[in-house]
Amino acid sequence: MHTLIKYREYINCKPDNATTFSRSCYLYETFIFGVGERPQMQVWHSKMGPIYRIKMGVKPWIIIGDPYIANDILKVKGAITAGRPFHLYMSHYGALDERGLVFTYPDKRWKSCRAIAQGLLSPKAVADKVEMMQSEAAKITELILKGTKESGYVDVFKSMQLATLNIIMQTCFGIRAKSLDDPLAHTMFDLIDTSIKLSAPDQDMQTFLPALSGLLRLFTSSENTMRDFVYKKRNPEFWRLIQEARENDSDCFVKNIYRLKEENGLEDDDILVFMVDMIEAATDTTAITLSWSFLILSHYPDVQLKVQNEIDTFITKHNRLPVYEERENFPFMLSVQKESMRYRAVIPMNLPHEVTKDFEYNGYLIPKGTAILASTYTLNLSEEFYDNPREFIPERYLYDKRPLSVSVNANSQTRDQFVFGWGRRICPGVHMSDVELFNFWVRILATARIEPPLLNGQPVYPDLNAYHDGGLTVGPSETKLRFVERHDRLI
Ligand code: HEM
Repeated sequence: MHTLIKYREYINCKPDNATTFSRSCYLYETFIFGVGERPQMQVWHSKMGPIYRIKMGVKPWIIIGDPYIANDILKVKGAITAGRPFHLYMSHYGALDERGLVFTYPDKRWKSCRAIAQGLLSPKAVADKVEMMQSEAAKITELILKGTKESGYVDVFKSMQLATLNIIMQTCFGIRAKSLDDPLAHTMFDLIDTSIKLSAPDQDMQTFLPALSGLLRLFTSSENTMRDFVYKKRNPEFWRLIQEARENDSDCFVKNIYRLKEENGLEDDDILVFMVDMIEAATDTTAITLSWSFLILSHYPDVQLKVQNEIDTFITKHNRLPVYEERENFPFMLSVQKESMRYRAVIPMNLPHEVTKDFEYNGYLIPKGTAILASTYTLNLSEEFYDNPREFIPERYLYDKRPLSVSVNANSQTRDQFVFGWGRRICPGVHMSDVELFNFWVRILATARIEPPLLNGQPVYPDLNAYHDGGLTVGPSETKLRFVERHDRLI
């Protein structure tokens, strides 16, 4: 267990003697890639313990690297730690002044949107989407088998991004992109990529360092870039999608939310940002999670074989692929899936929360306005929680068949997944992701062997330490894989 003494010692520590400006930039730039092998926050945790405070420009930040402390502060005190720090793009331009779900102040409007999202993403609502998810899993499997045959490999991230985009596009708007060359896919990927890049913490240094805002504008995206992107590109495209969805015959989120508009006091702009949030929150997160998993599996043919045995045993008995409700039959596959998510977290910094009211934690005042970051990267390496946390251990979760929605909401002793965030801001898409991941895993592994690309006939294993910093998300930078049709496939 962590000790309170540690907290007392470290809360007032300053990370180094650098100036505020260089310290802030240094933190952002080096957090993910770090100096040498370790992200800067991790280095500071090892020097200063599980919780420390830094001043990022004008703003105090508390960085938490211990699951118990994160639970105390972000879950137990969730009523006053569910804010979001202001971010020029995410809160102002992107969210049209704090509308929607992801980067909004936790006010009445956010509560309405959050309740609507929870309804639309509830197990019952997700159950209605399962056939569509299965169909997308089957289509993408065909595409990656064909791509491997024709070109020798496929870009796993691009392929998974197409599939996850299609699932959320059908859910929200009732439409899908036919292939990676479909203009709809191009447009949506461009909007998502730009938005996630503009959402990165280092794109808003002027909020933290107002005195240097003129100088910082030379180095970060300008307000003009943000404004032009939102008003000239993103909004017109989303208005068109919303309009068409209201007119087509699908039973999609747009229609549902328009039905709830009046009783929740929502305006058209609230609905637009809600839709943007859904598309952005669901597409790359799930695609990167799948990509990391398949890249990891390409290193472990024996692990793949064990997963395939589980799936084949089921198919032999039932003559069909399993559905999510039959997941109890797949303890090993679920364990590997959860371990992959832990081993390579898609949002390693998590999203920051903010304190909305002064409160005391173990004798220390945490003032209103303090930003809080529970770094998933560090939590996933907690030695109190995990044996050999730096190792990929496929059996780690073997005795834990809980659905992700249960694991992430468990109490601090039994919670074992940190990738979906915390407290009142915890990801409302957990269950949808769980069902989606299950359907992709069973379909792809029942059909294909996942292998590294070849160079002169020799396998070139993807480097699992090579990252692509997408802004908020961190994905693999080496994404070539071969999906080779299994000669012994049963379906
Ligand atoms: C593997 C896939 C996913 C991962 C790892 C993931 C992770 C996260 C994380 C870390 C947060 C921030 C939580 C916090 O602030 O403490 C979040 C928020 C959110 N996620 Fe997800 N997510 C995933 C999939 C999805 C899907 C499929 C949807 C919707 C269909 C979704 C919708 C959202 C929304 C709307 C929020 C903002 C919630 C709020 O601020 O109130 N996510 N997600």
